[in-house]
Amino acid sequence: MWSISRATILSLSTISLLCLVSAKSGFGEACDQSNTHLDTNTYNLVTDCDPTTYCASNGTCAYKGCRKDIYPFGYADYAFDQLPPMCPMGQFCPDEGDQCMPQQPVGGSCQKDRDNECALADDYKNLAGFLNTNGSICLNFTCYYANVTLGQTCITDNTAYTAYLDSGAAYAFIVSRDNCANGMYCDGTALQCMKMKRRGEACSGNKECLTYNCDENAKCGKAADEPIHPGAWQYVLVALGIVILVGGVMTGLWFFHRRSRKENQIRLEQYYNEQIAYRQSIMSMSHAKNSLLSLPPNTSQDVARSSLYRDDSGWTSATNDALLPPNMRRDSSSGWSDGDAPRDRMQRADSEVLLMPNDASNRDSRYMDAPEPRGGYRG
Ligand SMILES: *[C@@H]1O[C@H](CO)[C@@H](O)[C@H](O)[C@H]1NC(C)=O
Ligand SMILES: *[C@@H]1O[C@H](CO)[C@@H](O)[C@H](O)[C@H]1NC(C)=O
Ligand SMILES: *[C@@H]1O[C@H](CO)[C@@H](O)[C@H](O)[C@H]1NC(C)=O
Ligand SMILES: *[C@@H]1O[C@H](CO)[C@@H](O)[C@H](O)[C@H]1NC(C)=O
Repeated sequence: MWSISRATILSLSTISLLCLVSAKSGFGEACDQSNTHLDTNTYNLVTDCDPTTYCASNGTCAYKGCRKDIYPFGYADYAFDQLPPMCPMGQFCPDEGDQCMPQQPVGGSCQKDRDNECALADDYKNLAGFLNTNGSICLNFTCYYANVTLGQTCITDNTAYTAYLDSGAAYAFIVSRDNCANGMYCDGTALQCMKMKRRGEACSGNKECLTYNCDENAKCGKAADEPIHPGAWQYVLVALGIVILVGGVMTGLWFFHRRSRKENQIRLEQYYNEQIAYRQSIMSMSHAKNSLLSLPPNTSQDVARSSLYRDDSGWTSATNDALLPPNMRRDSSSGWSDGDAPRDRMQRADSEVLLMPNDASNRDSRYMDAPEPRGGYRG
């Protein structure tokens, strides 16, 4: 957890550093090594030189000879293969970044929180833990192994970082590190290694908890990286939500499609009725012509003429409902009897076949009293 908060603090300092970059010396410019120090809030190394250079012993800024981070700060304009090299195993790059140096044995000096400046223990794999680096730890600028066992004397290194609340108020965030072996912490007053506490036990600092989280109730809380385990009802709720959503979409689409399918069907029916009516009209005309031109032999002219106007002597579509297109069939209430006048019948039959308006009153005036063409073909 300290690494997280430290990263936050470092990023804060990065912002303030960015503001200072313009005031820093570039390559070859003068600098004073006595100005090199750790920032009191962030414990970041501060020099007179910009991020790509360090203050060399001859009093000028020189390009860095190594880097400690894979993606170091201040190299945004550089390609990855232009960066100064990382140091090989057994060596480290100091905060200044001048050159690689051999790792320090136990008791040797190291820079603030630079555990990897300390040499590995022989059994470093057993000592390695999440609060040290490969079993080595840098406390109070001195290298140690994290190998002190239960009840043995240990040393601690408390660092107070300045942290800020959302409101801007500052408070001290204390990170306490020690050289106790894994699963133990160095008690600040007894200075002895003690067993770490389980979840729910009382604590006074993160390092006392196996989860490295002493919550606001002074009890060991859950670890920062602990996965969330949703309850069974949450799975059921999510599944139900998915089913309802999918079902809703399906139903909506079905209704939508049903409506357009109905509209389409009505359109098709209208089209087919039109086509059938059209076809029947043509067939009626063709039949009428055939029946006129092929009268039975020995038919007198009067009979032939009357066949034009009489239902029983000639074919006409109007006499047969079944042959009419559906939208032109007479409904039963408007059926006509034999008592109808022949002329009227003919005209009604005509109207059916020729799709004329079936209005007796104005038909009479149109057919009977149609005005003679004026100044027509008489002279
Ligand atoms: C200062 O030292 C650096 C690193 O050793 C070197 O690169 C640079 O040329 C020196 N500058 C002068 C003025 O001697
Ligand atoms: C820690 O040990 C591993 C495995 O030997 C090695 O790859 C890694 O570089 C070591 N880390 C440091 C900081 O020395
Ligand atoms: C840190 O080390 C210095 C000597 O290097 C010593 O004087 C000082 O008491 C130590 N501080 C702690 C808190 O151990
Ligand atoms: C821890 O390592 C140091 C340095 O090797 C050694 O002197 C000390 O005895 C070790 N402590 C334990 C408890 O193994």
